[in-house]
Amino acid sequence: MNYPATGLHHVTSCAGGAQEDIDFFTQVVGQRMIKQTILFDGRYAHYHLYYANAKAEPGSVMTTFPYKRVKGRKGSGQISATSYTVAKGTLPFWVDHLNHHKVKHTGIQERFGQSFIRFSHPAGLDFEVMEDKEDKREGWSTPEIPGEVSVKGFQGVVCSVRETAETKRFFIDALGFHESGVEGNYHRLETGKGGAARTITLLHEPDRPAGSWTFGEGTPHHVALNVPDDEALAEQKGIYDELGYTDCSEIKDRMYFHSIYCRCPGGILVECAATAAGGFAKDEPFDNLGEKLLLPPWFESRRDEIVAMLEPIQVPEYNEPAVAAGPGGAQPSKRKADFVHADQAASR
Ligand SMILES: [Fe+2]
Repeated sequence: MNYPATGLHHVTSCAGGAQEDIDFFTQVVGQRMIKQTILFDGRYAHYHLYYANAKAEPGSVMTTFPYKRVKGRKGSGQISATSYTVAKGTLPFWVDHLNHHKVKHTGIQERFGQSFIRFSHPAGLDFEVMEDKEDKREGWSTPEIPGEVSVKGFQGVVCSVRETAETKRFFIDALGFHESGVEGNYHRLETGKGGAARTITLLHEPDRPAGSWTFGEGTPHHVALNVPDDEALAEQKGIYDELGYTDCSEIKDRMYFHSIYCRCPGGILVECAATAAGGFAKDEPFDNLGEKLLLPPWFESRRDEIVAMLEPIQVPEYNEPAVAAGPGGAQPSKRKADFVHADQAASR
């Protein structure tokens, strides 16, 4: 049987402050900010910020909801870390870079024969840089992080589960993954030829209390898998229904992709996403991705009301390819976004 999902599409987590999130992803992780928009669900306006590699490829897209209104609780039934790949031999650079930014990290560790460093986002989210000599994707460059050491995209996610059997069954039977290794409490699932952006690692933590499932500061919310098109999305929904995973959502319009969501037996929310025509460049030029707050047409008439609920933010100048590649390299100065309004979230 051919399955629609080809690997990871994006990972979404709830951060704290918007600016500290932008600073973390654009300066510490070194991704390019590719979209400023808002969370499309609920009564409150929250940013939805997107970061990615040089080509803004699915499988590299990290998205965050800065979500100060509610604190999340970390635990099982949740993604416990999101891993990026970096080139072989680059971890000493990353140790120095993380130390320079005073980012808490674990030093160099190893899982399934791959060296990695785990480090913390200001809201307490965990990320990793993991060496992968096979991954040829092009990372973004910043004044501090040249292309040869930059993050290329995702390796995968590590998911904490209290038991592994039914979660494995979900990824294998419903999504076409296969189990490719067990090392201590880590169980590795891969799809297709495996490797970068095709890996989900389960961490068996039978005694760990459940983490929160709501949007909440400092907790991952979901992992999204890439499917080729809307037809494949409908096919995936059919697979879930046939197997009895009847709690799959309806197909949702996320502007840049179309999505379905289904919670796996271990508790982690799994989205399948089909990139829409035009992708992230459908509403702004590729060279200017991430510079302005963009709203979907159905929210545009409420722009003033929405903007008034958001924290003012600044995007680094080197977010533009021409500046990033400029003579002598760009300096990490910042430029104001094209809107500045009161930050009601901070005063609550
Ligand atoms: Fe998503």
